[in-house]
Amino acid sequence: MVPFRVPLSIPSVLEPVRSDGTTDHYEITQKAGKQEILPGLKTEVWGYDGIFPGPTIEARSGRRVVVRQINELPVPVVTHLHGGVTPPESDGYPTDLILPARYERSPSAHAGQESAGKHAHLFRDYEYPNEQGAATLWYHDHRMDFTGPQVYKGLAGLYLIRDEVENGLPLPKGEKEMPLVICDRIFEEDGSLFYPSIDPSLKGEPGVLEGYTNGVEGDTVLVNGAPWPFLEVSNTRYRFRILNASNARQYELALDPPPPGGMPFVQIGSEGGLLEMPIHHDRLLVSQAERFDVIVDFSRYPVGTRVTLKNLFGWRNRSGIARTSEVMRFVVARQEKEESFVPERLAPQGELPDPAEADATRRFSFSTNGRVWAVNGEPFDPERIDARPRLGAVEVWELSGETIHPIHLHLVQFRVLSRGGGKPGPYDAGWKDTVFLGADANVRVAARFSGYRGKYPFHCHNLEHEDMMMMANFEVV
Ligand code: C2O
Ligand code: CU
Repeated sequence: MVPFRVPLSIPSVLEPVRSDGTTDHYEITQKAGKQEILPGLKTEVWGYDGIFPGPTIEARSGRRVVVRQINELPVPVVTHLHGGVTPPESDGYPTDLILPARYERSPSAHAGQESAGKHAHLFRDYEYPNEQGAATLWYHDHRMDFTGPQVYKGLAGLYLIRDEVENGLPLPKGEKEMPLVICDRIFEEDGSLFYPSIDPSLKGEPGVLEGYTNGVEGDTVLVNGAPWPFLEVSNTRYRFRILNASNARQYELALDPPPPGGMPFVQIGSEGGLLEMPIHHDRLLVSQAERFDVIVDFSRYPVGTRVTLKNLFGWRNRSGIARTSEVMRFVVARQEKEESFVPERLAPQGELPDPAEADATRRFSFSTNGRVWAVNGEPFDPERIDARPRLGAVEVWELSGETIHPIHLHLVQFRVLSRGGGKPGPYDAGWKDTVFLGADANVRVAARFSGYRGKYPFHCHNLEHEDMMMMANFEVV
């Protein structure tokens, strides 16, 4: 298809079904839906409320949210709030399934996995305290062994937390603040999604066909569910919350043409919220599940300029048609008065985890053990605990891998201390819950394990690696 023909749409914001003095209550039904993604074709998705990406939840810091997730899909689901400081019962542990009303496991399913967790039938109420600052979080499926295909089919949505610090800043707001959820997919001729499951019913044997075990990458780039969309902007600043929701692809984003003087992206936030001070970038390397909150100032372009958001890691097909090397296009369509700016100071960072105070230093290597993807050589076992940090203690974790793995810890936001023995990289700033681990890099991070006691997973966010066992547990004691 010809890129830049479909307008960018913005996921709708979900209304609570009920609010009281302390809590906003939401209801989401996970179900199949038909959506026009490619022009003129219908695609079946599995979505929150049947749509992809799911509706956005906007929460306020300090105010509780309860989401009733109702499962009308034919398979078990689990919903995780990625980046949330959430008690373990509501965190969406991979075996804490919500079973469909009538569910019969296929006889070829792995024994044990579906009997291990705390099961709910038909629905579960997830409670989110939101005792954390303004940040861009997302919710997505986390069913053990099947997260890759279930997210791919559409089970992902945004969850924004807002607070007073952010509200007090003169950043672009309203129509000039929007998410860009970037992911890649493979479509069949008839518009249906292709995913190389061993058992496409997702009821039996998990895993992907040979040739896909490094991860499933698509040849069509979607932003907010639209293929290579375009957006008309005025010659002013915009705020984009970029999320890479792909299963296995990383993007190196750049603007073409770059504005005079370069540095088009002014980063104001990372996964855990706003930075202390803005950081200027020429490019953004965004690995799966990472979030970059950025300002782009389109007044640096003459009105009429068409600016392409490129992926420098992408490729063109044999006939030279851009496939994954392009993401979307901005058209600087009109003049408008500027009302926003990016202040020199954004948000206080709270207490940083001081590595000198660390209670423990742990090493985790992410690599294949010859058969599956593993952590320190071990495949995921929901019963095995690999780290027991004390509640409130600081720990230093050294993460290493033999190929690309974005590593995500549940419950905590951490700081990157070093990369490859040197300083943190240009994309390591701020509070992070997911960090890019390159081929030979050894990344040291420090986290304070506060919030809740209990068992949480950490894993590679290449979803095929995750499904093929690259996950382990820590338990806050
Ligand atoms: Cu976004 Cu455990 O995942
Ligand atoms: Cu991985």
